[in-house]
Amino acid sequence: MRGSKPNVPLTNTTRVPTRWRGEVERVLIPRSEIARRLRVMASEIQRDHQENELVVVSLLNGTVMFLADLVRHLSLPLRLDFIGVSSYRANTESGELVFTKELRLDVRGRDVLLVDDILDTGKTISSVLEKLSKLSPRRINVCVLLDKPSRRVRPVQADYIGFEIPDVFVVGYGLDYAERYRNLPFVGVLQPHVYKELHVSAIPESTSGPEPLPSPAGL
Ligand code: XMP
Repeated sequence: MRGSKPNVPLTNTTRVPTRWRGEVERVLIPRSEIARRLRVMASEIQRDHQENELVVVSLLNGTVMFLADLVRHLSLPLRLDFIGVSSYRANTESGELVFTKELRLDVRGRDVLLVDDILDTGKTISSVLEKLSKLSPRRINVCVLLDKPSRRVRPVQADYIGFEIPDVFVVGYGLDYAERYRNLPFVGVLQPHVYKELHVSAIPESTSGPEPLPSPAGL
C-alpha cells in the first residue's frame, strides 16, 4: 500500500514568478514536480483499488486543486463527496475543528479514499477518520499531497503521500494563508512580512461570509 514519498529539498532553484515575488519568498515544489508526482500516486491508488468501487471523500477547501488533478488520472469507477472542516486558527497554528459540511453519500461497506491537502499535527485527519469509521466503511485509506511528520501530535499516517516536507508553513496549490494564495500553481513559502500584514486572529479557516480580515493594498 504505502508507496514512495519524495522528500522536498529545503532549497529549490525554481524562480518565483515575477507577479508573486513581493509576497512569496520561495517555491518549495514547482508545478511540474506536482504533476509528475500525482501521476505516480494515481497509479498506486489505481493498483490498490481494482476490486471495489471507490468513494473519494475530500476535505474542503484546501484539496480543490489536488483533488481535481488527482482524480482525472484515476481510470476507476468512483463516486466523489466532500466534508467541510474548518480549523479556528490563530495565524499559522491550527485550533478547534468545526465541521461545516457533512458527507452525503452512504459509505457503509464501501472502500473510502480520504483526501486532504496536508497532514500536519494529524488532528484534522484523526477527527475525520473517527467520524467516518462510525459509518462502517469496508476500509479507509488516506491520501495527502503533503506530509509534515515532524509536527505530528496524533498517531496518524497516510497511505499515499505526495511529498514529505520540513516544518515550514506552505501555501499554494489549494493551500491558503488567510484565505489567500490558494490559486498559486506551485507550493511555496511566504515572505515573513505577509504574516504581519495579513493577521489571522482565531477565525474560521473557511468563511463564506464577509471577509473579516484587514486587507492590505493590492490584495
Ligand atoms: P492538522 O494539524 O490538523 O492540519 O494535521 C491539517 C490542516 O491544517 C491546515 N494546515 C496548513 N495550511 N499551510 C496551509 O496552508 C500549512 O503549512 C498547513 N499546515 C496545516 C490545512 O488546512 C490542513 O488540512
